[in-house]
Amino acid sequence: MNILLLGSGGREHALAWKLKQSKKVNKLFIAPGNAGTAAEGTNVNLNISDFDSLKSFALTNHIHLVVVGPEDPLVKGIYDFFKNDPLLQHIPLIGPSRQGARLEGSKDFAKAFMKRHQIPTARYQSITAENMTEGFRFLDTLTAPYVLKADGLAAGKGVLIIDRLDEAKKELADMLAGKFGEAGKTVVIEEFLSGIECSVFVLTDGNNYKILPVAKDYKRVGKGDTGLNTGGMGAVSPVPFAGKAFMEKVETRIIRPTIEGLKTEGIDYKGFIFLGLINVAGEPFVIEYNCRMGDPETEVVMLRLQNDLVDLLEGVATGRLNELTLTEDPRTAVTVMLVSGGYPQAYEKGKRITGLANDTSPQTVIFHAGTSCGPEAAILTSGGRVLAVSSYGRDKEEALEQSYKVISTLHFHHMYFRTDIGFDL
Ligand code: AMP
Ligand code: GLY
Repeated sequence: MNILLLGSGGREHALAWKLKQSKKVNKLFIAPGNAGTAAEGTNVNLNISDFDSLKSFALTNHIHLVVVGPEDPLVKGIYDFFKNDPLLQHIPLIGPSRQGARLEGSKDFAKAFMKRHQIPTARYQSITAENMTEGFRFLDTLTAPYVLKADGLAAGKGVLIIDRLDEAKKELADMLAGKFGEAGKTVVIEEFLSGIECSVFVLTDGNNYKILPVAKDYKRVGKGDTGLNTGGMGAVSPVPFAGKAFMEKVETRIIRPTIEGLKTEGIDYKGFIFLGLINVAGEPFVIEYNCRMGDPETEVVMLRLQNDLVDLLEGVATGRLNELTLTEDPRTAVTVMLVSGGYPQAYEKGKRITGLANDTSPQTVIFHAGTSCGPEAAILTSGGRVLAVSSYGRDKEEALEQSYKVISTLHFHHMYFRTDIGFDL
């Protein structure tokens, strides 16, 4: 079959790498892709928010399956666009409907959904300019630190954790006054939960589901989880604190009620659900839902998933996911992200990457996150996150040693990475 994969990051390179291993794939197109995905299939220069051009590409190139990497097209309704178009509706698209994508696109919607279905999450209140004083009163009932979240998508910058009550109140007022634009017109105030986080990925056909390997990502830019939040500086799978007992609680208290809740509310959801969880003294709580896979978690999840990914996605499309059994590689997988100096703030692009041709170890896969093809076969940096150096090992120590060994042979101007991925496990 011919597959069209949308996106251009490390997540999409990992998905492309995995899809390409399937004997069922004839042609794999990645839009727009990066220098890494160009080695797995054919990059096509399409704007993934321009649904009409995706439509003509899909029809001209006899696409049989569309896989959506990032949240943006999903929140904008790409699933519904395909489903409601007579010429496209025979092409399954992996991802939720616009309504399902609201689990990520609106924190207020996600919290209310969890409340309706008794899914454990932090206590909260949703506030708009109309009931701001109620927000102040709710903050008075909480203890520090205070968690404020812009309701809508805010490119990962919409969550603030504030130590002082007076600052939290001021920030709430600023957000409601438009600090984050439309995304912050509604603010979710949450009780702060203390614990350790992990990412659980569920693939569902709307009825049945499979739980993919659990991963932990490292969001802060600095050693010891310090400094600014990033898209993710590294990841590890499996996660030692997400053992059998914890995962049984996750499945009964969170995953099943989520799938049932979507079903009873008539929300079409055939795709990945990313549960950002926090383990509070052994009890799982949902910090956030995302309607897609995580990045850089996908880089380790795809290394550990042994099934043919196309089989799984076909199971989603046909509603027969229950007929498949998921198998995980027992080894540990880690990824260490190489980023452009300055990221997540201002950084330079267009730097030549050297050492990529040295990689020959079967223990390591270098996924490209932000790269482009330059003149004379050069590979250039084109984003903040550049390469995800991903390795297997018998344990996380061995896998990390392997990734750091490969990193020592790679170079670009102002390359930076965390040297302590997995430090807390
Ligand atoms: P989110 O975008 O909702 O995942 O929030 C970003 C980060 O803020 C999370 O990964 C957590 O580290 C932190 N966070 C969000 N909500 C809470 C909460 N209620 N308690 C503690 N930390 C939180
Ligand atoms: N690594 C977190 C995310 O993809 O949102």
